[in-house]
Amino acid sequence: MKTPVRVTVTGAAGQIGYALLFRIASGAMLGEDQPVILQLLDITPAMDALQGVKMELEDCAFPLLNDIVCTDDPNVGFKDTDYALLVGARPRGPGMERKDLLEANAAIFSVQGKAINDNASKNIKVLVVGNPANTNALIAQRNAPDIDPRNFTAMTRLDHNRAMTQIAQKTGKTVNDVTNMTIWGNHSATQYPDLFNCKVSGESAISLVDQEWYEGEFIPVVQQRGAAIIKARGASSAASAANAAIDHMRSWALGTEGDDWVSMGVYSDGSYGITEGLIYSFPCRCQNGDWSIVQGVEIGEFSQAKMAATEQELSEERDAVQHLLP
Ligand code: NAI
Repeated sequence: MKTPVRVTVTGAAGQIGYALLFRIASGAMLGEDQPVILQLLDITPAMDALQGVKMELEDCAFPLLNDIVCTDDPNVGFKDTDYALLVGARPRGPGMERKDLLEANAAIFSVQGKAINDNASKNIKVLVVGNPANTNALIAQRNAPDIDPRNFTAMTRLDHNRAMTQIAQKTGKTVNDVTNMTIWGNHSATQYPDLFNCKVSGESAISLVDQEWYEGEFIPVVQQRGAAIIKARGASSAASAANAAIDHMRSWALGTEGDDWVSMGVYSDGSYGITEGLIYSFPCRCQNGDWSIVQGVEIGEFSQAKMAATEQELSEERDAVQHLLP
């Protein structure tokens, strides 16, 4: 058996947490031969609920689950941790502007970034799920100067998975036939799901559909899927979000398949002309626990404009919290 690794989950008492923790403990995220210690962080009023989740985890008798720590102290939650899934975030309240939401979350993610910097393994892999995910990841990263900025990522895998199913259904195939999907940019309504580089059974996806469906249905359906789920379910997506978080971390830790790639919000190195330092979703391949942005992906005029629009939104989000960035 391997040595156990430490996995921190914030917002662990929330609905994504409830769909996520049992799968991490079962080995779905890091492999069926990797024991884990779960370090669960939430806020003080959620400690009773968190104890209940801990009891249920214990009652599963997962062979890979070595220990469970529950805490409301970020310094304890991130102590020596190898993986962190930052799920807990401040939801938008009534009358709250986007700027207020950004600021409220900036406060949370700056504290957590510092706690990661001071307590976690220097090789930590961080995934931010809590919204606005890309900018929250940027804030945490900027507050952790001793950690490689490449170790901070944001989740667009849910959008990626949603787009895979939409194109599979449209073409009468299954997701097993779909490869090379890309979500570019922000995890928000400006994200750009790219069918020009996507393949269905090895054929260019864009050649299988008409432009009207692509622009009028596919793109808006993927962009607005979160809102559609809230409308239908009366609560935001949780199981699918947790599943995407598992997929993201598993790809990063254990690698991507062959020539295929996945979408990850990562620290921009200026690839495709995207402003350096923004956390922007790119096509990424993973190997040996590291990711790299896939180079040479074809970008036409249509894609260029969409990629610039979502970049612009990310720059504006960054500027709105500039005064809070070290
Ligand atoms: P939830 O409200 O059920 O749970 C959030 C949990 O975070 C609560 O237990 C709360 O006490 C905790 N929390 C709040 N502030 C905290 C702090 N400072 N430290 C630690 N814990 C804290 O929300 P849910 O449904 O689990 O969603 C969590 C986040 O994930 C939301 O921001 C949501 O918008 C986002 N999300 C992101 C998706 C993506 O694709 N990137 C998809 C779906 C949701």
